[in-house]
Amino acid sequence: MDTATTGDLEIPADIAATLVDPVAYADDRIHDSYRWLRANNPLGIARPEKFDPFWVVTKHAHIQAISRQNDLFHNADRPTTLTNQALEERVRKITGGPNLVRSLVQMDAPDHPKYRALTQGWFMPANLGKFEGRVREIARSTVRRMLDRGGACDFVEDVALGYPLHVIMEILGVPEADEPRMLKLTQELFGPQDPDTARVRDALSAEQVSVMLQAIIADFSAYFRKITEDRRQNPRDDLATVIANAKIGGDYMPEHDQTSYYMIVATAGHDTTSSSTAGAIWALARDPAEFAKVKANPELIPGLVDESIRWMTPVKHFMRSATADTELGGRKIAKGDWLMLCYASGNRDEEVFEEPDRFRSDRKPNRHVAFGYGAHLCLGQYLAKLEMRILFEELLPHLKSLSLDGEVKMTQAYFVNGPKKLPIRFEVN
Ligand code: HEM
Repeated sequence: MDTATTGDLEIPADIAATLVDPVAYADDRIHDSYRWLRANNPLGIARPEKFDPFWVVTKHAHIQAISRQNDLFHNADRPTTLTNQALEERVRKITGGPNLVRSLVQMDAPDHPKYRALTQGWFMPANLGKFEGRVREIARSTVRRMLDRGGACDFVEDVALGYPLHVIMEILGVPEADEPRMLKLTQELFGPQDPDTARVRDALSAEQVSVMLQAIIADFSAYFRKITEDRRQNPRDDLATVIANAKIGGDYMPEHDQTSYYMIVATAGHDTTSSSTAGAIWALARDPAEFAKVKANPELIPGLVDESIRWMTPVKHFMRSATADTELGGRKIAKGDWLMLCYASGNRDEEVFEEPDRFRSDRKPNRHVAFGYGAHLCLGQYLAKLEMRILFEELLPHLKSLSLDGEVKMTQAYFVNGPKKLPIRFEVN
């Protein structure tokens, strides 16, 4: 990279370009950029074309420092994920604000703690334990289908994609028959991840995109309005019942907030958990010694889970904006500045992790920031870890050997990414 001639604060244009290039996240160039930034400019400004400038935060300590100061660094004042100027303008036309929905991630105090408290207890291990039996049943039937493939499969297609979606829909209380509709809505809303879809969308006018996004949100709202009505009349032991009946200051949530709440719960847990699950199998399939180690020591499974979440770090970033002038790492950050928290870089920070690029199931401690940090720390972290642990407990004892059976392909996306194709071969005990 031609980086020698750059000034102190500014991130070289070629590196800034990788940060906004979905392809760089698919072919691992992003990790070259992160490595360079951590060593040479750990808190610099990127000015890629078509985006407002933003600070790029690549050190573990700075990510934590910003994430814990929730009054000084807000989630909701500017787009919460990296958004180009044209898309932000479209979103502002629809909602009047920088973000399309108003879920927990797009809230700050005083609303954020109130809304988070509504379901926080539900996501804690003590409550989730009730669902462990059902999650294990889903894991067992998923594993059975994989083993029936007869020694080879695409782990993403056959296991990692469907399993977390099925678990969250079950926990939320969405009937199995509606899962394809939910998946489609999620993909249409959040992701022109696939480059072909993105091209189609880019070819549309701002008005056409606005109409499309509004239609998707209206569809989500209509779907969950029915669920809400049902759960107010017939409460059940599911998360939809908690959301439908939750009250803020004595009243039910406004409908837009409620739809957003359903939406984040329905969507935040699939691509993320499936990418981490696939990451673990990828790491074990390419390293027979690591596979043998975990097979011989099943007590390493929780470590395998944490290490794959660190190593893959499916959520590459969230954005913050400064509410006042401040200083960090010798930099003067001005009120209103936009900051990109690069979790995937923090999780390879040489000052925190020994041999950061290596996958080690026995890594201890493993203080990764893949779930974020501070007030917005992932609400679903225990659920994600429970799902993954149970799947590996059910799968690994059946496998005598595991290896790659072709090229692994990653999704092209700068927000959430992970393997989209993971061909493996396996022998069964
Ligand atoms: C928040 C990552 C699984 C629900 C977050 C944040 C990250 C993250 C980085 C922080 C957002 C911020 O700081 O602005 C992940 C990863 C997962 C995962 C890597 C899987 C390995 C799940 C699951 C659910 C979930 C299974 C639930 C169904 C949420 C919610 C928030 C959140 C509701 C917002 C919390 C708040 O703003 O207070 N997640 N997540 N996540 N996650 Fe996850």
